[in-house]
Amino acid sequence: MSFIEIHHLQKIYQKASVTVPAVNDISVDIQKGEFLAIVGKSGSGKSTLLNLLGGLDTPTAGEIRFNGENLFAEGKQGLVKHRRYRVGMVFQSFQLISSQTALENVELALAFGGISRAERKAKALALLEQVGLADRADHYPTELSGGEAQRVAIARALANDPDILLADEPTGNLDTHTGEMILALLQELNRQGRTVIMITHDPDMAKIAERTIRMQDGQLVDHRPT
Ligand SMILES: Nc1ncnc2c1ncn2[C@@H]1O[C@H](COP(=O)(O)OP(=O)(O)O)[C@@H](O)[C@H]1O
Ligand SMILES: [Mg+2]
Repeated sequence: MSFIEIHHLQKIYQKASVTVPAVNDISVDIQKGEFLAIVGKSGSGKSTLLNLLGGLDTPTAGEIRFNGENLFAEGKQGLVKHRRYRVGMVFQSFQLISSQTALENVELALAFGGISRAERKAKALALLEQVGLADRADHYPTELSGGEAQRVAIARALANDPDILLADEPTGNLDTHTGEMILALLQELNRQGRTVIMITHDPDMAKIAERTIRMQDGQLVDHRPT
């Protein structure tokens, strides 16, 4: 049994008379602690696949099993738990809440269960520290550079200590140097034992991954162990 097993996964979007098989019968296993890159042209289904892995969407057919458990078997409840405790997601556009400070953005992601206001704040600060951003805790997103905003988003993704980080073109809005720093941070988090699955259109970025899979028209066309 692999850590993550994607089994004949399919997601078909139906809009009026247009049918789009965004993910079209994908099967692949992902090992615990792996750093996997997903590459492919725009529209090839990469984000759809990652959103399914993140429990943001449900498939038309097929399964994703985590430790042997089908993610979609328990309905909405199971997906909420998955999103809160098992995966952290990072997006190209950061997706921070603009009316909240960096610290508040991280705090909001912390699970509520029996933790005091002061503890939450301390934990959020520790997470910002981990991404090297403790000195920007009181800044609002508009007061942050792109690289800083992405680090806040990564701190937020780590809030509940997930085993898996899913990143959808995390360096897509960043200059090369800043992108490399974000990539180094993801690598470090991977070295700490987290499984990282990252979409990128940049072959140089994909190089640092242990394995790259390529998508085309909703299918996997290339399994390259590196
Ligand atoms: N919510 C949606 N409704 C209808 N079609 C969608 C939706 N999301 C994505 N698609 C279509 O699915 C295909 C794959 O999209 P996407 O997964 O975003 O590709 P990528 O991330 O590789 O650029 C595209 O043709 C896109 O137009
Ligand atoms: Mg995409």
